[in-house]
Amino acid sequence: MKIGAPKEIFAGEQRVALTPASATLLQKLGYECVVETGAGLGAGISDADYKDAGVTVVKTGAALWKASDIIIKVRAPEPVELKRFTSGQTLISFIWPAQSEELLEALNAKGVTTIAMDMVPRISRAQKMDALSSMANIGGYRAVIEAGNNFGRFFTGQITAAGKVPPAKVLVVGAGVAGLAAIGTATSLGAITYAFDVRPEVAEQIESMGAEFVYLDFEEEQADGAATGGYAAVSSPEFREKQLEKFRELAPDMDIVITTALIPGRDAPKLWLADMVAAMKSGSVVVDLAAEKGGNCDLTVMDEKIVSDNGVTIVGYTDFPSRMASQSSMLYANNIRHMLDDLTPDKDGKPNQNMDDDVIRSATVTHEGKITFPPPPLKVQAIAAQKPSAPVKTAEEIKAEEMAAMKAAGRKQTMLLIFGAAIMGVIGMYAPASFMQHFIVFVLAVFIGFQVIWNVSHALHTPLMAITNAISGIIIVGALLQVAGNGWLVTILAGIAVLIATINIVGGFMVTRRMLAMFQRS
Ligand code: NAI
Repeated sequence: MKIGAPKEIFAGEQRVALTPASATLLQKLGYECVVETGAGLGAGISDADYKDAGVTVVKTGAALWKASDIIIKVRAPEPVELKRFTSGQTLISFIWPAQSEELLEALNAKGVTTIAMDMVPRISRAQKMDALSSMANIGGYRAVIEAGNNFGRFFTGQITAAGKVPPAKVLVVGAGVAGLAAIGTATSLGAITYAFDVRPEVAEQIESMGAEFVYLDFEEEQADGAATGGYAAVSSPEFREKQLEKFRELAPDMDIVITTALIPGRDAPKLWLADMVAAMKSGSVVVDLAAEKGGNCDLTVMDEKIVSDNGVTIVGYTDFPSRMASQSSMLYANNIRHMLDDLTPDKDGKPNQNMDDDVIRSATVTHEGKITFPPPPLKVQAIAAQKPSAPVKTAEEIKAEEMAAMKAAGRKQTMLLIFGAAIMGVIGMYAPASFMQHFIVFVLAVFIGFQVIWNVSHALHTPLMAITNAISGIIIVGALLQVAGNGWLVTILAGIAVLIATINIVGGFMVTRRMLAMFQRS
């Protein structure tokens, strides 16, 4: 079958749903790829690049629709594009089905199978297709770059011969996918970054990225504000007041504020109010990522950049991913390619619309003459909806449990020691003295080794393995001393000891290398 990617006609949209790299992989799934001329220009991809990857380039949108069985797009189809669909075609695109009833009806009436990329559920297996997250990640990154572009100073602090520059202070409100990407970008540019979210469980993630979590002195309600199903719940008026009070306190000190706060299915909460903008220094910047849903800042104007009376720039653009079209096309085309990979299990160039598959079912919004939105609840719980399995314990309960566990472990160890001593006594009654001497050393070595390694946490087993090289070295020295004499059995055993210890040493070095590579920048 043929997959076609048209040139996006939505004003200003620079992204494209097919890249030469994704086309190559789609061809391996048995598909032929078609693209409309100029479709990739906004993302820096020429027709020649597509042709080199074996993609057919057609001259018009109408020709593309005619040539393709599956249409892959970024934006939901415009009316002129809708007219071009014929029965039996498949559309894979952002659709926003909850807000696009008419579009769903039109696609269904045409007999089109529609897969909405924005309906891919947030479960582990579907992360590779999660286009919302890949776009939000770019949005968060670009928000910082956009802020920097409008901010007349460095992010990082500097001491130069010409004078001392203090580091910029950045506040990120809402630490979801976009917020965390913004935090990562701001800290890597050297800014002092603060972040706030109603879900206190994200504090650890925020701090692990080098930012400071802004705590509210409001324990009870903060826990309440934390997630129903992992997502933020609407905050109580008291909590909101406390939050605004904190923001008011921070406002005069912040150079850049990036707001991303959103509760799915609701308008963006107003969190950065006019008086906070008024309290900011001239030259400061607010980037409101939630502009499309009404904005988190009182002064935000959707799709525009304005400057407040006191000189604060407020950016309300809603097309950050499109402003980085090369990067976002690459990631989005990959998301689509993974979706098609799941749709084509036999790699025969024919999609298998398996409606028993959780991911395919959730994303399919029209199929076989029916509107299949909204989807049934997932069989697997969404990542964000996974709740902690155990109830939260008090400090006293934890202490009591630890004491009980320690006492039980002590009893077990005493029993084991008595049992071990009894066995040694029995063996000692019959075995020769020279054997007992070696045997006791062997038993003690096993016991100490076991105790030491057993108490190391699982996460540290791999580095521990690398350190056992020293022990392997001792084994090799011992085995080499034995290998030449004392009969063939000892020689064979010593040879095996050298071999296994060598494997351990080489393996240890390889594992260490791989671990270090994970922390290295390429
Ligand atoms: P997300 O759902 O992963 O994150 C939203 C975060 O806001 C959550 O962590 C939530 O706990 C937090 N939040 C909700 N209410 C809050 C409150 N009252 N105070 C503080 N935090 C609160 O969403 P994601 O994917 O990170 O997207 C964030 C926003 O960015 C959305 O509005 C999305 O539409 C927008 N976006 C905008 C783009 C643009 O070009 N302007 C590009 C990509 C995303």
